[in-house]
Parts: sequence; C-alpha cells; structure tokens
Amino acid sequence: MAIQGQAVLLEEPGQPAVLRDVEIDDPGPGEVLIQIVASGVCHTDLTVKMLNGNGMPFPIVLGHEGAGIVEKVGEGVDSLAPGDPVVIAYRAPCERCPACLRGDPRRCYMALRAKPRIRRTSDGATCSQVLRCGTFATHTVVHSKAAIKMPKEMPLDRACLIACGVITGVGAAMHTAPVFAGARVAVIGCGGVGLSVIQGARLCHARQIIGVDVNPIKLEWAKNFGATHTVDASKTDPVAEVRRLTDDGWDGGVEFAYEATGIPLCTEQAIKMLAYGGRATTIGFPAATDAVTLNLGDMATGVYWNKAGLNVCHCGDALPSSDFPLMAQLYLQGQLELDRMITRRIGLGDVEDAFHEMETGNVIRSVIVL
Ligand SMILES: NC(=O)c1ccc[n+]([C@@H]2O[C@H](COP(=O)([O-])OP(=O)(O)OC[C@H]3O[C@@H](n4cnc5c(N)ncnc54)[C@H](O)[C@@H]3O)[C@@H](O)[C@H]2O)c1
Ligand SMILES: [Zn+2]
Ligand SMILES: [Zn+2]
Repeated sequence: MAIQGQAVLLEEPGQPAVLRDVEIDDPGPGEVLIQIVASGVCHTDLTVKMLNGNGMPFPIVLGHEGAGIVEKVGEGVDSLAPGDPVVIAYRAPCERCPACLRGDPRRCYMALRAKPRIRRTSDGATCSQVLRCGTFATHTVVHSKAAIKMPKEMPLDRACLIACGVITGVGAAMHTAPVFAGARVAVIGCGGVGLSVIQGARLCHARQIIGVDVNPIKLEWAKNFGATHTVDASKTDPVAEVRRLTDDGWDGGVEFAYEATGIPLCTEQAIKMLAYGGRATTIGFPAATDAVTLNLGDMATGVYWNKAGLNVCHCGDALPSSDFPLMAQLYLQGQLELDRMITRRIGLGDVEDAFHEMETGNVIRSVIVL
C-alpha cells in the first residue's frame, strides 16, 4: 500500500525547488523502500536545477547523497531487512554492460535502478528521481543493490556524505587516477568533492597536496583536510604557482591534478600543471556546450610533449558494495574526516536556502536531517 510523504520537487524549468506532498508506492521485486534520515546537498543538485532538469522529465525529486533506514523490502530481496541502516548508491553496477561482463564493474556503463515509485499527491504525476535516488524526501524506493548496509555505529548524518561527495573525491584519488605514495597532487576547487580528493590523496600518502580555490575560507578548510599548500586562484595564476611550489629542477608540476569545480578553464589548468607523464582528472559536471582547448605541440606544456593524460571521474569509479563500508570504517577509525564536512544541518524545506549558501561559497555541505 502506498504511503504518504513529502519530497522536494523541481516542477518546471526556471522555478525554485518546492516541498510537496507525495505518495510512495510499495517496492517492487528487487527493490527497497527507504525512510530517509539524512541527505547532503551536492552541487550537482543545483546544476540539475540550473540546467532545467538536464533532460529528465518533470516533476523531479532532487537529492542523491542520502542515507536512511530500510522500511520495506520487495519480493526476492534477502540481502536487506527492515531496520537496516543504508547509504544509497547512484552507481551500483548493472551486471549486464560490457564492462561488468568483463569483470570491471568500476567502469560500469549504467547503474541499477528501481521503477519510479514516487507520485505527486496533487495530480498523481510520476516523479523522476535525480540519479535514480531522489533523497530530498521522507522516503524513496531504490534497487536493493543500490542500498549499501552501514555498520550500526555509523551516524547516518555523516554516512550520507559517502554517497556522492566523499566517494567521488576519495575514489578519484584511489581509483580514477590512483595516487602513488610520494606523488605530488593538486586539487582545483576545494568544495565537498575537492576536500574529499584531498583526503583521498592524504590516505594514499601523497608527498605534496596543493589545494587551489578562489575562496580564502575554502583554502583554510583545505589545510584542515590535509592540503600541505594552498593557492588562491583569484590572486595568482594557479598553473605558474603550482609549478613554482613543486619546482624540482625539471620545471616542477604535479603527477596528479584533479578539477572539482565544473569550470572548463579549471580542467585546462589541471592539464597545464602536470609534470611529465602526469594525469589530470576532470570531475565537475559540464553543460552540453562546455569545451576545453588542448595544445598538443608546445614543447614545454603541450599534451604530446608533456605526455599528459586526461581522465574523467564518475562517482570516483566506486564499487559501492565494498567502497562505502570502507569509507565508514575509515571514519570510525578516525582516518577520514566527515564531521567537519557538515557546515549546516537543515530541514527538507530549506533546499533553496542551501543552494543560495552554496553559491555564496561559505559551506562545505548543508545536510538535510529528518
Ligand atoms: N563526476 C562526478 O561523479 C561528480 C560527483 C559529485 C559532484 N560533481 C561535480 O563536481 C563539482 C564540485 O562539486 P561540489 O559539491 O564540491 O561543489 P562546491 O560548490 O561545494 O565546490 C566547488 C568549489 O570550486 C571553487 N571554485 C569556483 N571557481 C573556481 C576557480 N576558478 N578556481 C578554483 N576553484 C574554484 C568554489 O569556491 C568551491 O569551493 C560540481 O560541478 C559537481 O556538479 C561531480
Ligand atoms: Zn553529487
Ligand atoms: Zn555495468
């Protein structure tokens, strides 16, 4: 039987997100109904709003960084039971695509999804769920393999951060372009994702971790999360400054540069600040027309002569079933900082305010707590 709840919806292009009554249907075979306990507000939710749904049909339930408690399980689900604490994964491998079939689920082309089961009460319209999640809601229904069980002692307001910001950033440094011990690393953009890249680089024993941002508060926070140096890109050219900080008599440069801003120029900067043979990784969510220009032939910085590589990070190339419990364990052992990632705890009705705060740049994460 359907239950009554509430969800934060985008109802039409160009309009603010609004809290509405919804009905949530029972989970189907292989699905689970989750009562949401906490959900982080990631920049991607704001981007989906700014891109007018990015192709998803309206109405759209926002939110994809969620944790909660299993309330009901659908037919055939024996891996979870009501009462289990879980974090929701938006990229649980599909087990059918060419990457999954060749045994490389971190490169899965798509992800497991449940049928859409949230309906707007006023007119019965079926809602899309951002990244198959829809966690700015009292409840959601996801594929059972996308609900990853957490240890009982893991606080869910912190566990939710694992679902996107943390796994994307830590995973970028551990899996997308794995940092080797002793490497030099630059991270452009020190928001929730970038600070997590910094933590990932620290966990991989990078020798130098340079946080780059245009906001002085973010640079302070970057130091708290493990940056050994910071660069204010509003005051100085980050490419020249990173090369200066890493000067080794061979023109300096970093072995790994990660872009976590969504700004194409920052991806270009990441490529230009690489040492010979280095890897740049682009993480930020692009608009359809975003493009970068790569010089191939310049003897000093051209991609060809500098043997530079470009990787793309989707959710840290995570394998949620093993990586999410690992993140929880690292937190519980004091090796992964999550407490200080939460700048504000807010209610379901405060999403627009959280978007505004994100634009002012003075938060790492606003976390909705129900
Ligand atoms: N690829 C993925 O799987 C994935 C997952 C999560 C988020 N994202 C995307 O990653 C990006 C970052 O997300 P977030 O939640 O950390 O956002 P955020 O808003 O918290 O952080 C962005 C940071 O970039 C900084 N910044 C802005 N302009 C800059 C510049 N010119 N140079 C250096 N820094 C600059 C801001 O001050 C801010 O600290 C977004 O585009 C988001 O959509 C991608
Ligand atoms: Zn996200
Ligand atoms: Zn797959």
